[in-house]
Amino acid sequence: MKEALQKDDFYKIINYAIKAPSGHNTQPWFFAIYENSIIITPNFERSLPAVDPNNRELFISLGCAVENLCIAANHYGYESQTDINSEWKITVTLNKNSEIIPDTLFEQISIRQTNRLLYNGNSIYQSILDDVIIASQTDSVKIQVFERNSPTFDILKNLVLEGNSQQLNNENFKQELISWIRYNKKDT
Ligand SMILES: Cc1cc2nc3c(=O)[nH]c(=O)nc-3n(C[C@H](O)[C@H](O)[C@H](O)COP(=O)(O)O)c2cc1C
Repeated sequence: MKEALQKDDFYKIINYAIKAPSGHNTQPWFFAIYENSIIITPNFERSLPAVDPNNRELFISLGCAVENLCIAANHYGYESQTDINSEWKITVTLNKNSEIIPDTLFEQISIRQTNRLLYNGNSIYQSILDDVIIASQTDSVKIQVFERNSPTFDILKNLVLEGNSQQLNNENFKQELISWIRYNKKDT
């Protein structure tokens, strides 16, 4: 009975993990449920050789899925410990813990989405920027902000523009992107 309930929880947790963003929405992951763990492995059949030849973005996508998984596990009362081995097998060990602290990020998983609308041009409030910077200060992650029209901002802007036009002039990039686009059914 306990095993069945736990398996049910693990399915629910994976349902949140797969809401993670991924490059071209390829969702390049496999999940496997074990007694006290969920194992995530890369699906290299969904790699993007043109835009991501070193699988860098594929692994960022897996990282996003693992992060969602741990946040959802926390919501269902499991503490998680993550390990990765040299064959890219990511093991998230889950143990019930009655003293778990709720994480407000859980509510965001279902409403987060990539926004491709035009920006309205407003600056982000400094207080929000400060919160993001403080929240992301860890030993391995640093977020740096660049003020609009500052010399560094302009250098970066021009590099991004150049990168975008190089991609859009690259036939392999375009074909790969098109192959991953799914269209809504047209009303007839
Ligand atoms: C590693 C990574 C790279 C991405 N690169 C781009 C990008 O260059 N341009 C873009 O418009 N979206 C990019 N995205 C967003 C994905 O296209 C988006 O997450 C995916 O289509 C799923 O949509 P959702 O985020 O709304 O769930 C990227 C996402 C990830 C995780």
